Amino acid sequence: MAIKRSGNGKSNNNNDKKTPNKKRQSKKQTNKIETKPSLVRAVATSEDSSEAQIRPNTLSGYIGQKELKETLKIAIAAARGRGEPMDHLLLYGPPGLGKTTMSLIIATEMEVDCKITTAPALERPRDISGLLVNLKPGDILFVDEIHRLNRIAEELLYPAMEDFRLDITIGKGQTSRIRSVPLKPFTLVGATTKVGSISSPLRDRFGLIQRLRFYEIDELTEIVLRTAKLLKYPIEPDAAEEIARRGRGTPRIANRLVRRVRDYVQVQKEPVITQSNAAIALDKYNVDRFGLDWTDRLILSTLIDNFHGGPVGLETIAAATGEDKKTIEEVIEPYLLQIGFLQRTSRGRAVTERARSHLQKS
Ligand code: ADE
Repeated sequence: MAIKRSGNGKSNNNNDKKTPNKKRQSKKQTNKIETKPSLVRAVATSEDSSEAQIRPNTLSGYIGQKELKETLKIAIAAARGRGEPMDHLLLYGPPGLGKTTMSLIIATEMEVDCKITTAPALERPRDISGLLVNLKPGDILFVDEIHRLNRIAEELLYPAMEDFRLDITIGKGQTSRIRSVPLKPFTLVGATTKVGSISSPLRDRFGLIQRLRFYEIDELTEIVLRTAKLLKYPIEPDAAEEIARRGRGTPRIANRLVRRVRDYVQVQKEPVITQSNAAIALDKYNVDRFGLDWTDRLILSTLIDNFHGGPVGLETIAAATGEDKKTIEEVIEPYLLQIGFLQRTSRGRAVTERARSHLQKS
């Protein structure tokens, strides 16, 4: 199976070089008291390109997401049996849970190629038409952040998804006409963190709509053990669980923590990752027992100290903490809701008793 990436800004080089994250360096956030890089944001960084080396490439090697795997196993077997591409698939859920990985696995299982792109890279009609006409029979086209497709790209996709046909408009104004170009049958895999932002005509064209959920501790523990093995660093099971607990239910984050703990123990000349050295390392990196970092704690304590615990609107939280509204909503908040530290009410966000007691102890 070949992986092709198309103008998506995602690096496919596998070296571990650190490229400064522009957003992190932004000077705009003037009311933020201090800005520290975080290990526990699920958005991919260039460093996560090393993730590509440790991704599972078959369904059987993929840990967690049991229901999703079962659904896909059936869809793949049925499509293969008919000699057809699999139905178009929409994957949604918080970042870092394995949407791209799953798309690459489906390509492996279907024995086809996967082209990877992201909606913001499909700005002009020719961006998407170029990709579509070059697909081979059965290929997968993976479009990340599909909720960000513009209207023209989206409308080109409708006949492509439905009838494997590309309708190209030639000329302008009254003399314009539509030319239909046949496409090879293909599978579109769309990925999004914001399923609610996808228009219903687009959503309705996916035969399979599947949610990825946060991973349980035991699943993440298994992923941490697997990653440490691939990194060839001995790890005790308790240590894997300690890292998993702080991995925010997200493989991308847990795997990043494994690499940082490995760095720490290696420098300390400790031959094995143990629960105690892992906990010391992660405390040093400012990742607490629930995987919260400085920004999470700032948001929760701002709600408690300045707003009696809420409810408070998202705009107000963003203004009071200097954190970007979209980042709070799409990256930070889903995990705080998941672990029951935050509640969403019609009047805004409120902290829970569980969050209060955690912050008092830490
Ligand atoms: N690495 C990242 N995600 C994984 C998963 N779900 N299973 C196994 N290894 C992984």
